Amino acid sequence: MSQLKLSKGSWSTQSVFIMAAVGSAVGLGNLWKFPYITGEYGGGAFVLVYLFCILLIGIPVLFSEFILGRNGKANPVQAMANVARENNGSKAWAALGFNGVLAGLLILSFYSVIAGWALFYFVESVQGKFVGADAKAVGNLFEGLLGSQVELIFWHSLFALTTIVIVAKGLKSGIEKAINFLMPGLFFILLILLGYATTTGYFAQSFEFLFKPDFSKLTWNAVLVAMGHAFFTLSLGMGSMMVYASYVSKQHSIVKAGLWIAFADTIIALLAGLVIFSIVFANGLEPGAGPGLLFQTLPVAFGEMAGGWLFGSLFFALVVMAALSSAISLIEPAVSWFEQNWAMSRIKAAWLLGAIVWVIGLGTVLSFNAWADLHFLPEKSFFDSIDFITANIMLPLGGLMMTIFIAWVMKKQVVEAELELQTELLNVFYFIIKWIAPIAVIIVFASNLVSKENLWPMIAVSIGVYLVYLVNKVRAGGVAER
Ligand code: PFF
Repeated sequence: MSQLKLSKGSWSTQSVFIMAAVGSAVGLGNLWKFPYITGEYGGGAFVLVYLFCILLIGIPVLFSEFILGRNGKANPVQAMANVARENNGSKAWAALGFNGVLAGLLILSFYSVIAGWALFYFVESVQGKFVGADAKAVGNLFEGLLGSQVELIFWHSLFALTTIVIVAKGLKSGIEKAINFLMPGLFFILLILLGYATTTGYFAQSFEFLFKPDFSKLTWNAVLVAMGHAFFTLSLGMGSMMVYASYVSKQHSIVKAGLWIAFADTIIALLAGLVIFSIVFANGLEPGAGPGLLFQTLPVAFGEMAGGWLFGSLFFALVVMAALSSAISLIEPAVSWFEQNWAMSRIKAAWLLGAIVWVIGLGTVLSFNAWADLHFLPEKSFFDSIDFITANIMLPLGGLMMTIFIAWVMKKQVVEAELELQTELLNVFYFIIKWIAPIAVIIVFASNLVSKENLWPMIAVSIGVYLVYLVNKVRAGGVAER
């Protein structure tokens, strides 16, 4: 039997680990994606489903990922191979890590393009371009950006390059330090914006939009999107949290860390939503405006408020930094896999993977202009297709398999020692990951399988999962390992 391959190093303190994990969780998902999908899927009912998903699926999956990471002590592919071996499970569990590595690279490809928008907005804001700008002027600026391939590619490249350089350096301590002041800074500016939102006269309407559920607007597709977003926003199902947990030492509590991360992530998303929808309603904008929502609303607020130039610049700088700390965690599983399993230097791995991500990102750039009418999945542009496949399929599937592994394959005493929960709470955890979380994910998947819109991607996933199963069977000579 070959030696276990393990990650070296560990976080200096528990709070640094929490900060880094919060840094991974809090990003464009909270500030950009949550408000725009909430707008698209009708508000309150969607938010309620999302909150349920965080509580009933997100948090237990987060704990599961932490357990696997700390136990597997390696990149996701190797960590899964390690824990499978130690618990007499099949080798095929490594495919779960591979699913995560791939999902991370695909997500980063569009993440970098959108973070590029924020970089562009930061520079515009520093130049005072938003001072006095109304909703129409800001809308035109945004349209102009989307129409220009050169600009989009320039900002996408700049963001991708920054991510690569940081990851290549393995700047864990740099990231640790930056995150320590970034997250409180972001929270502080959101509070200032919240103060502004209350002066628009539309705060109550925004609050109602987010928290008063209208179930007539809820569709199965919305439930799938809400669940997918719970995975996306908590960075679940793809091994980011697993890699981070592989650096956590035994004396730290992963339960406490997990609860803090989920809490911080949710609060920041809700605050961003409250602010953005106040501005949307105050300016007669469309809540369902799509991916441009954040970029078409907040500059209006910055243009009107005293000191808006400064706050605007700071805000977009923080968005970029929040995106950066997430981007690092998106590529880290792949980089550490190449480093540990393919004996490639960290620098080479970061540049190679970064280049691949950059090229795929060009598809997202084009989907806002030249390829706007080209559909890759039915009725979905390149960007929408990658977003759909990753957030709504690969991440929930990854999370589902993780809970199945913990619930049915991993030895109970290992889980017990990892979580250090009282018996009743441990039983609640087991009940959720054995029954509630998997069944919820499967129901949402299955209901989408019967919806015409998502039929093809869902069939493709089913075939993919079956192929992995077959390959494993053939490799094992048709004899089940356990
Ligand atoms: N959680 C990040 C966000 O909300 O922006 C995105 C993300 C990072 C997703 C890392 C997945 C991941 F592994």
